[in-house]
Amino acid sequence: MKRIGLLVLAVLLAFSVASVSANGAKEGGQIVIGANIYSFADNFMNGVMKPEFERYATTLGAKLEMVDSEGQQAKLNDQIDVFITKKVSVLAINLVDPAAAKAVIAKAKAAGIPLILFNKEPTEAGAMASYDKVWYVGTNSAESGIIQGQMMVSDWKANPKWDLNGDGVVQYVLLKGEPGHPDAEARTKESVKAFVDAGIKVQQLALEADPNWSTQHGNDKMAAWLTSSFGKSIELVICNNDGMAFGAINALKAAGVKLPLYGVDALDQALTHIADGEMNGTVLNDGVNQARATLDLAVRAAMGKPVTEGTTWKLSTDGTKAVRVAYLPVTPKNYQDFRKK
Ligand code: BGC
Ligand code: CA
Repeated sequence: MKRIGLLVLAVLLAFSVASVSANGAKEGGQIVIGANIYSFADNFMNGVMKPEFERYATTLGAKLEMVDSEGQQAKLNDQIDVFITKKVSVLAINLVDPAAAKAVIAKAKAAGIPLILFNKEPTEAGAMASYDKVWYVGTNSAESGIIQGQMMVSDWKANPKWDLNGDGVVQYVLLKGEPGHPDAEARTKESVKAFVDAGIKVQQLALEADPNWSTQHGNDKMAAWLTSSFGKSIELVICNNDGMAFGAINALKAAGVKLPLYGVDALDQALTHIADGEMNGTVLNDGVNQARATLDLAVRAAMGKPVTEGTTWKLSTDGTKAVRVAYLPVTPKNYQDFRKK
């Protein structure tokens, strides 16, 4: 029985491999996806997106070639040149510099290779319109900041003691991600705006950005802030991602201080910090579905098919040629639902 099941599976897999053969590739040739991650040192990209890329590519019967761009756009440009020389069927690219999209798109266009950009949305006007075979997979950046902001506002209202100096103003510090990254910019703006929109006054005590969104940065900045002149005035720690939040938690623990603290991504470790009462909330950044959408679009583009054909993904109708995966609030009440099954 088991053997028959395996046989059926093998036949199905063989069929699906054949069904994802690229246009123009030699008969029976497998689709080859030339992909990168802007930095394997990034908690979210390396911990959530990369494993799902690897897993899901196998289920699609496509060959994934994944490289580390080590946080250098020049390195990524060279990696793309190599993929083009190798004649990959399609490119799945995580920009290092979101303002470098035009040059990347021009390379793909010159080579006639379809391109799926993911995670870092191009910021240059007209970039996406410059090639008919480029698409974007990511999120609606502002949504994460809005959700994080709403969680903080409702918790702030429910916990009058959080206003340590009782002045009715939220004295906050903010750990920002990469400057110019649409997610970092929108999260920074929207999270704070939620208080203002709710009629609550805010005072920014400090804000520091990190192009690598790293735990080290979160730790170092938080530690420095705690011992600074305003250290005892901090009432809230806002983090653009969980990676930096983990660092801030370390620094707070080392100093024996407890403060309300929020992140974005909903990494497994964040769920544990929520369970332990060390984090008050995060926002699910659904990297698993972003990876799946990227590969679904990639194999269809490689076959010359409409990129969302036969999938549940929807392309935005605003001219950005984007599939945007929704964010979700993760709180002490619902975090259990986000534990890996
Ligand atoms: C994630 C961050 C990550 C960044 C990388 C964001 O969407 O929330 O954790 O560092 O993407 O580009
Ligand atoms: Ca206050």
